[in-house]
Amino acid sequence: MRIDIITCVPDLLDSPFNVSILKRAQDKGVVEINVHNLRDFTLDKHRRVDDYAYGPGAGMVLTVEPLDRAISALKSERDYDAVIFMTPDGERFEQKTANRFSLFKNIIILCGHYKGIDQRIRDHFVTHEISIGDFVLTGGELAASLVVDAIVRLLPGAMSDETSALTDSFQDDLLAPPVYTRPAEYKGWKVPDVLLSGNDKLIEEWRHEQAYQRTKERRPDLLQ
Ligand code: ADE
Repeated sequence: MRIDIITCVPDLLDSPFNVSILKRAQDKGVVEINVHNLRDFTLDKHRRVDDYAYGPGAGMVLTVEPLDRAISALKSERDYDAVIFMTPDGERFEQKTANRFSLFKNIIILCGHYKGIDQRIRDHFVTHEISIGDFVLTGGELAASLVVDAIVRLLPGAMSDETSALTDSFQDDLLAPPVYTRPAEYKGWKVPDVLLSGNDKLIEEWRHEQAYQRTKERRPDLLQ
């Protein structure tokens, strides 16, 4: 998979992609992540990429020209399955969205900043508008990093077997069950007996029951 991210604050995306599983996935060739500085695409001699919103009230808006030039340059080189815009007024990002996006080959992610981006870019290029929740961030970069993380960990080869994405919370509309590791007893705090039984079938039943109870208590909406 190839992911191209267009942002006016590329530094914000340095560390999320350069450590741990995301770094390893890139090193292994599972995913190629390219961060593009929007300022490299403007013809403005001061490299400005924003301007005042039309009408009264405060707020800067990312202008059409650099965004058009950045997206068009990428699209002239390959086909893209999606142009995703990170915005609080978009569709809520969920595990199912990550599953769907993980099947794409090439995607572009646009990060807004300030008041957002000129609507004409949304009208003419954007195929998916995505929000990570009902709150407003200073820009789309942190939201984009979260979306990329959730997608990349699903790609074949991104994670080793023991961190399999199939058993994550939400994959079957249940939260994940509790997990334990050695030692079996610490300060008198014991691991449930069933997990030490060696009976895989019993353990699977226990896990499912725990997942169900946890979901019922914490997120009953998922069971509906
Ligand atoms: N940009 C600013 N706030 C956002 C949010 N909640 N989700 C996605 N992008 C955003």
